Amino acid sequence: METLTLALGDRGYPIHIGEHALRQLPAELARLEARGAVAVCTDANVARIHGESVLESVRSAGVTPVLCVMPAGEEAKQLARIEEFCGMFLEAGLDRSSVVVALGGGVPGDVAGFAAASFMRGIRFVQIPTTIVAQVDSSVGGKTGVNHALGKNTIGAFHQPSAVIIDLTFLKTLPDRELRAGLAEVIKHGVIADAALFEYLECHVEPILAKDLDALMLPVRRSCEIKAAVVAEDEKEHGLRAILNYGHTFGHGIEAVTRYGVFLHGEAVALGMEAAASLARQLGLLDEEAAARQRACLESYGLPVRWPELPVDETLAAMKHDKKARAGTLKFIVADRIGHVVHRTDIPEEQARAALLAVR
Ligand code: NAD
Ligand code: GLY
Repeated sequence: METLTLALGDRGYPIHIGEHALRQLPAELARLEARGAVAVCTDANVARIHGESVLESVRSAGVTPVLCVMPAGEEAKQLARIEEFCGMFLEAGLDRSSVVVALGGGVPGDVAGFAAASFMRGIRFVQIPTTIVAQVDSSVGGKTGVNHALGKNTIGAFHQPSAVIIDLTFLKTLPDRELRAGLAEVIKHGVIADAALFEYLECHVEPILAKDLDALMLPVRRSCEIKAAVVAEDEKEHGLRAILNYGHTFGHGIEAVTRYGVFLHGEAVALGMEAAASLARQLGLLDEEAAARQRACLESYGLPVRWPELPVDETLAAMKHDKKARAGTLKFIVADRIGHVVHRTDIPEEQARAALLAVR
């Protein structure tokens, strides 16, 4: 097991990563001086498969776990859940000194994190991510929140966890499609910041897709290191943190026009990365060899890089509505080589349209 630190001064926290990292939970609860009841918030799938082992771990810290379960899936990521979770916290007697455990993928992680941010104006929480998306992205960095009918992740707060415990063993039960979709975010980390990680992913497709935990350790750890370094420098996304949105402006547009019903988030990000590479080619920033490597890597993990039905105009319109777009111009993160990206705030709509056409 390895432990990284997200360096945010007195709000910094450890990120434990490894095959049996869950064993760290009792020690973390002791360090946080958790007393009385600890709320373990998760979704129905994760509760069924992994709930008992986490409850047992909480019990072994000498505190009483209270299981708070929400329905699984993105549709359940609503403000109503915050009221429900806070009601469960009150009934269980949680107070300002209590600790919440957010167990599961990005959905329960974001919801439980926002409930912890809101309850008694903010209590501490520990992230225990169980999907690749959550282990390499959402559990680190403190973005919490829920969706509104008019926009995804539009209600939320920055609220850093007190610890992140990434037990790779959870991945053994993750459906293959979820695994592959999550790996899009790992490939993204390679493209934006680490050519060696990208090369590792190119060379270890088979063991990674077979969920060989030794093979998964490096990509998960490097992803957390990259994300932790970015967040330490730019916690509230005033600048640098936007590089983590590589492929996401196009991807969010694709998710919005499909009403989140066709592609998993990582699959939409893969299409978005392909569009971003096409844009970078048009701008003369990226050579064809690097664009082809990104495409081949995404494809080798079973991720989509073409979508013949892509509705270009509707996707462009959705992208302009995205909260990351600014009036008049479109803002993108584009790669100029594998392992490095640049911000462009001046992309004319026609160039973005051509990039989308290249994906179709
Ligand atoms: P998810 O939480 O819905 O999990 C996907 C599915 O896998 C669910 O059905 C879940 O029940 C199931 N599952 C989870 N762990 C499992 C396991 N170990 N074994 C078997 N099944 C398991 O989705 P996700 O892909 O983890 O996360 C997507 C969400 O994360 C989105 O809402 C997105 O907005 C959010 N997100 C947030 C951030 C952030 O910085 N806060 C970053 C990226 C994504
Ligand atoms: N997932 C992008 C971020 O955390 O900033």
